[in-house]
Amino acid sequence: MTAFEWTQYEGHGPGAELLGQPRTALELGAAECREASWLARRGVRVTALDLSPVQVERARRWWKDVPGLAIEEGEACAFLRAGDQTYDAVYSVWGAVWFTDPQELFPLVSTRLAPGGLFVFSHGETPQGLDGRRPMYGKGPEGREMTVDRWCHAPEVWAGLAREHGFRDVRARCLPAPTGQALGTIIVEARVPA
Ligand SMILES: C[S@@+](CC[C@H](N)C(=O)[O-])C[C@H]1O[C@@H](n2cnc3c(N)ncnc32)[C@H](O)[C@@H]1O
Repeated sequence: MTAFEWTQYEGHGPGAELLGQPRTALELGAAECREASWLARRGVRVTALDLSPVQVERARRWWKDVPGLAIEEGEACAFLRAGDQTYDAVYSVWGAVWFTDPQELFPLVSTRLAPGGLFVFSHGETPQGLDGRRPMYGKGPEGREMTVDRWCHAPEVWAGLAREHGFRDVRARCLPAPTGQALGTIIVEARVPA
């Protein structure tokens, strides 16, 4: 992997610079841990969290030789509630932030950020007119039908939610897809007060 990507298109849009120069970082919903391992290889102490045991087992195998990378299994809100370590950056790439009620998650994130720490997340573009919790229907392990909730907001709504929970320097935008591709990427950047 050659870059830290916020979008699903290689080399498109900003990279790890959105996280500043963190010494420590927490990724929420890291799945394959590509971004987390990229950061760890550059000297950041990274905790990468995912609730899927399958993802965690595979990522631990793939990145076992990367120093400074801790891959944890757990649900984002439960993990944030359970500890008190703070991080210079908390981030999520199409990850847990998209799948978690921000009213519950945002206050927990802010308590786990060091003063002045950055909260940055991305997810797929929200179609016009959609706002709030949206169930996604699909098939889980062994073909079982399952529903997963996703929180879909326009950038300005995400910005308002971040401010409502005390974040500052909020920037939220939808980065259009490269030519010929359909789905843009919402990127939200925010900071807790120093
Ligand atoms: C669409 S995948 C994206 C993952 C990865 N960041 C990427 O860019 O490939 C979303 C991941 O978030 C995880 N996830 C969803 N909700 C979560 C939660 N509440 N806590 C922890 N992980 C969660 C899922 O298990 C899944 O691996």
